[in-house]
Amino acid sequence: MNRTLHPVTEAPLRFWHRNAMVERHHVPPDRTLLDLLRENLRLTATKEGCAAGDCGACTVVVAEAVDGRLQYRAVNSCIKPAQSIDGLALWTAADLARPDGTLHPVQRAMVACHGSQCGFCTPGFVMSLFALYQRTVAQGQAVDSHSAHEALSGNLCRCTGYRPIVQAACSLQADAAQAVDETPIVAALRQLAVTPQTDGDYLRPSTLPALLQARAKHPTAQLIAGATDAGLWITQGLRRMPQIIDLTRVAELRRVEHYPQHIAIGAAVNLQDAFEALAADRPVIAPFGERFAGWPVRQSGTLGGNVANGSPIGDSMPLLIALGAQVVLMAWRKGRAVHRHVPLDRFYTGYRQSLLAPDELLAWVVAPRPAPGEWLGVYKVSKRQEDDISAVCLAVQLHVEGGRITAARIGAGGVAATPARAVKTETALIGQPWNEATLAAAQQAIAQEFSPLSDLRASADYRRQILGQLLRRAWLESTGHNTVRLETLA
Ligand SMILES: Cc1cc2nc3c(=O)[nH]c(=O)nc-3n(C[C@H](O)[C@H](O)[C@H](O)COP(=O)(O)OP(=O)(O)OC[C@H]3O[C@@H](n4cnc5c(N)ncnc54)[C@H](O)[C@@H]3O)c2cc1C
Ligand code: FES
Ligand code: FES
Repeated sequence: MNRTLHPVTEAPLRFWHRNAMVERHHVPPDRTLLDLLRENLRLTATKEGCAAGDCGACTVVVAEAVDGRLQYRAVNSCIKPAQSIDGLALWTAADLARPDGTLHPVQRAMVACHGSQCGFCTPGFVMSLFALYQRTVAQGQAVDSHSAHEALSGNLCRCTGYRPIVQAACSLQADAAQAVDETPIVAALRQLAVTPQTDGDYLRPSTLPALLQARAKHPTAQLIAGATDAGLWITQGLRRMPQIIDLTRVAELRRVEHYPQHIAIGAAVNLQDAFEALAADRPVIAPFGERFAGWPVRQSGTLGGNVANGSPIGDSMPLLIALGAQVVLMAWRKGRAVHRHVPLDRFYTGYRQSLLAPDELLAWVVAPRPAPGEWLGVYKVSKRQEDDISAVCLAVQLHVEGGRITAARIGAGGVAATPARAVKTETALIGQPWNEATLAAAQQAIAQEFSPLSDLRASADYRRQILGQLLRRAWLESTGHNTVRLETLA
């Protein structure tokens, strides 16, 4: 796809690739990394399948220098703005074998296990395996079935060749002769990291004040974080983005901060790290987090982006509403940073609309830590186990004392124009004994509380019924009637 009519950017794009620094000038802000690789650099090992972040054919690996080491991420190059890899190191499927043709351990494992049938999906699978190799095998850890499935969760094979690929992942062996020599790369990336870009058509501020000032100065620029939603507006919606503000380099927003009463998750924290932080206090969130998209999307996309984007079928918001989370909105006004806290259940004003002012951005998601006696259930119903969007999502937080419900908060997705709080259903529960009669009343309440739509994911009737069934599951689980986790049966 040729997109040569874009406006040009002044700042050069620089990244480390094949033992050298690549520098490209005039890369349009909305040019994707895949287009840059295939069309400008003629690096055609990386394939285009869906151009929507779904299939993983375009997967490449990027690495960032953190505390003197490289942190590797598999990413979907089809939806990633090329300029977002400025200052990073890059590997494609053509960069793994040695110049003499010796295959990399992940390639050898794929050959040995007969893991490759076609040239479209294989480069993407190999790159997901390379990222897995660097994170585990190269650090002396073995790959188990769970981490193999997780690492491959963003790659689709149309001819269902998954079993040999998973076998290849689990059989990976370290090969010291093929190790990435990180020292020169880290040194080179340190050199590249010197100039945050705070003007032009792809802005990469590195501090919170610089970000807020950029937002104030350019209120019509497209703000992005991981671009796992916004990237699709380029490739699927053919939307032009003449100016982009990328918030992922802002140091203050890359942190998870832990306080006695709450945790604060910065807007640049990726979904993987955000779910891990939430699951540290509430382990039930871990398997739910693993059902969010696939590994590459969770490595790039952010919790802040999910919440700010405000899709009614976004997965994190029902959970965060049930937890009683707030968002911290920030802006630069009259020469200083200002902020306000908004409870998430009051943040949305309509379909993909929120209280965010044009000069504001979401800086933090603040989630209360669990109070003693909290019970939490969180459920996603989708057609595929992973790499799929919810038809319905329900999160239920309860406090039960002496068999009676003393507090309830319920968040729901896929049932209204916005992520929603089920206030009437909560009212049907609070103060009641937690028994089958109360469950029936709550099921009736939740069926009447929302008017879901019929679409390709589910009919309105199915959605209404499944809400009641998920409440039943919450009752069974919270009262000890059912301790079987469906996730463990996979
Ligand atoms: C293959 C695939 C699978 C997916 N699966 C799921 C899924 O299972 N569940 C789910 O909920 N979503 C899913 N998504 C959607 C997407 O990954 C999430 O919504 C993600 O959290 C978006 O975060 P981001 O950082 O990529 O946002 P971006 O794409 O960068 O931004 C999205 C929007 O939010 C705005 N925005 C981002 N950050 C901020 C901020 N800090 N302040 C103000 N505005 C901001 C941007 O301006 C933009 O309008 C999937 C996407 C893909 C491509
Ligand atoms: S081409 Fe399918 S995920 Fe990128
Ligand atoms: S081997 Fe490529 S799609 Fe199955």
